Amino acid sequence: MIMKTNILFSLLLLASTLSSSLARGVFQTLPSEDFNDHSNVNRTRHLLEGNESRSSTGTNDQRRVCVDLALGYMTNSELERAIKEFGQRCSNISRIYSIGKSVKGVPLWVIEISDKPGEEETEPAFKYIGNVHGDEPVGRELLIFLANWLCDNHLKDPLATLIVENVHLHLLPSMNPDGFSLRRRGNANNIDLNRDFPDQFFFANDDEDSRQPETRAIMKWLRDIQFTGSATLHGGALVANYPWDGTHDKRTYYAGCPDDDAFRFMASIYSHSHYNMSSSKEFLDGITNGAAWYPLYGGMQDWNYIHAGCFELTLEVSDNKWPIAAELPILWKYNKMSMLNLVASLVKTGVHGRIYSSGDGRPLPGFITVSGINYTVRAGRTFADYHRLLAPRDRYEVVATMPGYKSKNTSIWLDEGAMSLDFVLDPEVSVKGSILRNVYDCNCDSKSKLEFVEFLLGSHLEVFFVFIVILGFLCFLFQRRKKVKFSTTKQSTGAKRTVVV
Ligand SMILES: *[C@@H]1O[C@H](CO)[C@@H](O)[C@H](O)[C@H]1NC(C)=O
Ligand SMILES: *[C@@H]1O[C@H](CO)[C@@H](O)[C@H](O)[C@H]1NC(C)=O
Ligand SMILES: *[C@@H]1O[C@H](CO)[C@@H](O)[C@H](O)[C@H]1NC(C)=O
Ligand SMILES: *[C@@H]1O[C@H](CO)[C@@H](O)[C@H](O)[C@H]1NC(C)=O
Ligand SMILES: *[C@@H]1O[C@H](CO)[C@@H](O)[C@H](O)[C@H]1NC(C)=O
Ligand SMILES: *[C@@H]1O[C@H](CO)[C@@H](O)[C@H](O)[C@H]1NC(C)=O
Ligand SMILES: [Zn+2]
Repeated sequence: MIMKTNILFSLLLLASTLSSSLARGVFQTLPSEDFNDHSNVNRTRHLLEGNESRSSTGTNDQRRVCVDLALGYMTNSELERAIKEFGQRCSNISRIYSIGKSVKGVPLWVIEISDKPGEEETEPAFKYIGNVHGDEPVGRELLIFLANWLCDNHLKDPLATLIVENVHLHLLPSMNPDGFSLRRRGNANNIDLNRDFPDQFFFANDDEDSRQPETRAIMKWLRDIQFTGSATLHGGALVANYPWDGTHDKRTYYAGCPDDDAFRFMASIYSHSHYNMSSSKEFLDGITNGAAWYPLYGGMQDWNYIHAGCFELTLEVSDNKWPIAAELPILWKYNKMSMLNLVASLVKTGVHGRIYSSGDGRPLPGFITVSGINYTVRAGRTFADYHRLLAPRDRYEVVATMPGYKSKNTSIWLDEGAMSLDFVLDPEVSVKGSILRNVYDCNCDSKSKLEFVEFLLGSHLEVFFVFIVILGFLCFLFQRRKKVKFSTTKQSTGAKRTVVV
């Protein structure tokens, strides 16, 4: 698929240089690459120009008091308008939808970006959520920058094109619009939404009806869409935080989840692509285990991993929770490559494929596990595609299961690149008959082997055993070579090659 994309991309790149007005509309372009170009601030913040938009928003008296703080940030209705204008400007690679409403009835708008928005495909889905805490508004602005950048650079920039064509990216700029207009952490009921999810250790939030509407909207969203990866954007520090966020005894220490390696890898992608997150003095490498920093309960991150099969990071993107708006373009520059690379890592790393039935070839929505990691990834309901994030390492044993079918496992060699691996599962049959087949399953020449066995059986039994051991070793070497060959081919062409087992 990526190779096809490359050809398509080059063709369309040519076309787009001829017509540079492609995909350009009411919005202006984003700031230039220069980090210090303040003159761009007004250009990107054009939504706030004029009195019309400003006065159309306020019913809230507190807005007047905090007007200096809020100056330059989009109000809730300006954000809504920006999202809808985006949807019109970029209608062929986006879809706008709402996942519910806040306590005060503000719709929780989402922008989905994909070449086939709203359609199911054999592609991973990623979500970014901003403004979980009302007084941490940088994320909601960054997500609008991100959407605009992807729209402006689709078919021009390879990373933008890769994301649009291979990922379904969902952006929820504000999960807590009420908290934003009140300039406070909690929502309109003053509940911290990042403490409102069911917790693995403490059962405080188990009553579904007592949860906040914003929390319920997220939980329903994750039942409707199967997300592979996610990140929430916070402020107050500069670090990429990964599970677990809590410990069973409420003490502060490193509490790694089964996918600790994959999460450290994900967090490092963010941190290393950031302007200076990885040079943090407070957090080694700019990443931290949540519980090692400070344990919290009822958080969204751990709930995503445990209950939604979604690998979520909590990103703290600026030390200052509410910096002056003039800093937003710079914060976008600092975070831009991180945000893009994290999404792209969903297709550039890990193991991906589909599960089929050997009988009729239909997709089997089964399960993928990896030996040594106590976690199950579910294949998609419709196409049975799975997307398993894994840290680069030499060898993994991947197991596919489906009730009513025989499990299959295979060893893979996973480096920095992604691996494509399909499974074809056989329906359950009686054990008899399959044992003999397995012995000759190693692609050796079975005719000459049989003759040789007859010859050996005529002589001594010990010799026969030695022969079996040697044969086994040769088969092992052969299969190993086959696998190494696969991975080197993949590297040299840069294209994904599907291995079927
Ligand atoms: C932005 O525009 C305002 C007026 O609309 C002006 O006072 C200000 O100097 C401009 N800022 C920059 C950086 O151009
Ligand atoms: C904006 O509002 C001020 C007073 O609130 C008024 O003097 C000014 O003319 C308005 N500008 C525009 C562009 O409407
Ligand atoms: C979006 O529309 C533009 C202009 O009509 C077209 O060139 C481009 O191929 C479209 N992109 C997709 C993904 O359909
Ligand atoms: C990153 O850069 C910003 C802006 O220059 C600065 O305020 C912050 O202290 C830096 N952080 C680290 C960890 O270097
Ligand atoms: C695997 O994780 C589950 C929870 O998801 C837990 O109940 C079980 O005890 C774990 N198994 C092992 C072997 O750690
Ligand atoms: C993988 O398959 C082999 C036999 O082919 C079996 O012995 C082994 O237990 C399997 N491993 C897992 C984790 O299922
Ligand atoms: Zn926060």
